[in-house]
Amino acid sequence: MAEQREQWGSRAGFLLAAIGSAIGLGNIWRFPYVAYDNGGGAFLVPYLVALLTAGIPLLVLEYALGHRFRGSAPLTFRRLHPRAEVLGWWQVGVCLLIASYYAVVIAWAAAYTWFAFDLAWGDDPEAFLFESYWAASEPWQLGGMRLGVLVPLVAIWLVTLGVLASGVRRGVERANRILIPLLVVTFGVLVVRALTLPGATEGLDAFFTPDWGALGDGGIWVAAYGQIFFSLSVGFAIMITYASYLPRRGADLTTNGFIAGFANSSFELLAGIGVFAAIGFLAASQGAAVDEVATGGVGLAFVVFPTIVSELPALNRVFGVLFFASLVAAGLSSLISITEASASAVIDKFGWSRAKAVGVIGGGTAVVSLFYATGLGPTLLDVVDNFVNNFGVAAVGLAEVIVVAWALRRLSELRQHADAVSELPLGGWWSGALVGVTPLLLGAVTIDNLRRELAEPYEGLPVDFLVVFGWGAAALALVIGVLFTARPWHESVPVEFDPEMSA
Ligand code: ALA
Repeated sequence: MAEQREQWGSRAGFLLAAIGSAIGLGNIWRFPYVAYDNGGGAFLVPYLVALLTAGIPLLVLEYALGHRFRGSAPLTFRRLHPRAEVLGWWQVGVCLLIASYYAVVIAWAAAYTWFAFDLAWGDDPEAFLFESYWAASEPWQLGGMRLGVLVPLVAIWLVTLGVLASGVRRGVERANRILIPLLVVTFGVLVVRALTLPGATEGLDAFFTPDWGALGDGGIWVAAYGQIFFSLSVGFAIMITYASYLPRRGADLTTNGFIAGFANSSFELLAGIGVFAAIGFLAASQGAAVDEVATGGVGLAFVVFPTIVSELPALNRVFGVLFFASLVAAGLSSLISITEASASAVIDKFGWSRAKAVGVIGGGTAVVSLFYATGLGPTLLDVVDNFVNNFGVAAVGLAEVIVVAWALRRLSELRQHADAVSELPLGGWWSGALVGVTPLLLGAVTIDNLRRELAEPYEGLPVDFLVVFGWGAAALALVIGVLFTARPWHESVPVEFDPEMSA
């Protein structure tokens, strides 16, 4: 049966979209606070180990899967093996949960871009964030809608759904061609500025001084794997979907995987350097130690950065607007990819039109995201982000390697496929990482983290709240996976598929 799958306009278009998906809030908003909460310098070693043992190998694996089986994640896994489909829908479940709060952080960044024009956070950005902008309520109290979050949130969704409705080439590819160059230039300017501030060196020292003793703490390892997965967009259906839009020939999967992986981590380290240099400046200007000036957690970018912007010697507003606008640009290109991965899945399974899929799946996620625009939003977001990443994404990533490498033993087929369409041959390290290192390390850290999370409630929050919104969210991703798997495929979808015949 002739296949009419949408395609990227060019290899550069694909690469920009893949990099645009990877580089996101994870790099600028999440990485610094996760690194900060996990011992600062101590985090760098597990992070690099996770990148090389799991991040890049899984990225190339997902490219190879999507390209060989030419489908969204559920269709790809269904074609790999009839019983593997649930893995794809589980990833879509993770995508839906992440998209629902991801858009909210972009909305905060959009609001702060606006606030930066007149430094609206005043002399006490922490009080401004917690008491005025978020007006955060206690666990179990919804606390009413926050208009300052709601308005930008609706705008972010309208842009995202508009881009997706325009299609892969005219929407997603075109948006990335605008957003990524914009991001690189603005962020480059910001990092140079941060590095030339007084006190920057102390901040960088804190970032780059490894704390070897902390490496025995399993929590740091699971945070590193969670961060790598989130940041590279692996384990949540996106890279499989994006690779399925590549032409059959000339896709050069392996080289593209390396370029996207290293571009993302370079950007992330660059962001870490910029953030810690700026924190060093803040510490110097307040006469405090680096680890005393920053609050951890999801508020870091929205407390520390406004403070830094206000303290800059000149052009405060310009740098403030540039920083928060770059956060919006980075976030948008990733939100587009997260929502595309879910929309593509229902297009494939139910034969829906793109407009219907975007409207129902994207629109539905947008409605759910409104819960985070309430007073409870920030706490809820922190909890869902922690559990969905550390147990949802990490667990589905683990399940993916166990199923593909151990149960179905399909790695050599996928390696041959990648080698046949790539300039760079995959070495034995790739299979070694996926068969041995990734599942063993990831399995060990996930179990250790499970033990830790059960022993001590996350952030000291009430256990019933964590059970419902933390464990509940991680479990919901799997439940969504099972429910969608149970639905029948639309009769027009060729689920039986021979990759060799269609090559
Ligand atoms: N990969 C995306 C990010 O880092 C989701 O934000």
